Amino acid sequence: MDDQATLYDNHGRRINYVRLAVTDRCNLRCFYCMPEEGIKYVAREDLLTYEEMERLLRLLQGMGITKVRITGGEPFVRRNMIEFLRTICGMGFEKVNITTNGTLTHDVVPELKAMGISSVNLSLDSLDAGRFYEITRRDVFPKVMETFHALIDQGINTKINAVVMDGKNIDDLIPMAELTRDHPVDVRFIEEMPFNGEGSHYPVLEWNHRRIVEHLRGAFPDLEKVPDPPNSTSMNYRVPGFLGKIGIIAAYSRTFCGTCNRIRLTPKGMLKTCLYDNGVFNVRDLMRAGASESQIRDTFLEALGHRAKDGWEAERNRNGGLPVTESMSTIGG
Ligand code: GTP
Ligand code: 5AD
Ligand code: SF4
Repeated sequence: MDDQATLYDNHGRRINYVRLAVTDRCNLRCFYCMPEEGIKYVAREDLLTYEEMERLLRLLQGMGITKVRITGGEPFVRRNMIEFLRTICGMGFEKVNITTNGTLTHDVVPELKAMGISSVNLSLDSLDAGRFYEITRRDVFPKVMETFHALIDQGINTKINAVVMDGKNIDDLIPMAELTRDHPVDVRFIEEMPFNGEGSHYPVLEWNHRRIVEHLRGAFPDLEKVPDPPNSTSMNYRVPGFLGKIGIIAAYSRTFCGTCNRIRLTPKGMLKTCLYDNGVFNVRDLMRAGASESQIRDTFLEALGHRAKDGWEAERNRNGGLPVTESMSTIGG
């Protein structure tokens, strides 16, 4: 690898993880992510094509990216997703991971295993079918559970992502943590962020990472801290004797920005150097204007040269200091 092209930001952080959102479409309507109606989807011709994504991933691989996460929207609503994943898995990255809602994947888990997907993060906010419906506005809980069991059966490294929502799924926290008793799964509780298409639901965040841990300790007094992997978004715990781990992601409190190693590409090809920024430049437009590999590389290097130091600064620097409101489905989480 050409050292000149290795991606570092202006705070000395090495960038080796790209989150690629392959679509803004989703077959669920989780209320913390998007409104029930009136969503304007990106026109097909405005999406990055698979060829463009592959070109970008190759280029980023040459700049030191070792981990790719495919996100959406829901990645599996995009046609020919399996073929695309197979291509990415053949490119020699250390890790190719997926974040999915698990509604369309119950039949393809063995294929994911065979092609070498390193891990799957499953978005699941309740173990109660009624509450699942209230949160997602779709009646597909059994499909997600089928995916969960298939992932465990296939021995794929699996994390469950549950957004903690005041008044919605607090009764689910303990049952979800209980999943770690008999399953080798990481269950991660995420602070709710205002990326829901309209902005903050609450004047203050009721369930921050401290309150979530306290709540868990109420049920599991011997909950113990375990070391966090490098660049982890989650603070990790385990109940002695349980097979899996419990994580808390302080996504709103932004406690992990200091070690942030990631960039994001949105379905329209916008580069985000922070989840909370407004997008820095559109790499799709650059490619479609005929830019060479070195021009594109230089643009990435330049963009990382003035990256906000954390999510608070990125949010302050957004156009006019506006608070975040866009749907997570347009960013990829
Ligand atoms: P691993 O690669 O398995 O550690 O997962 P991840 O946490 O990087 O990715 P995932 O897609 O599972 O995201 C879980 C939650 O963490 C989502 O709600 C994301 O929005 C949030 N998250 C991921 N990266 C960041 C980040 O850079 N900043 C903030 N504030 N939240 C993030
Ligand atoms: N706040 C926190 N997490 C969110 N996600 C989607 N919207 C939000 C939000 N408003 C999570 C999903 C998924 C991940 C990519 O982002 O649950 O697991
Ligand atoms: Fe779909 Fe994921 Fe948003 Fe839920 S969080 S509506 S599963 S994109």
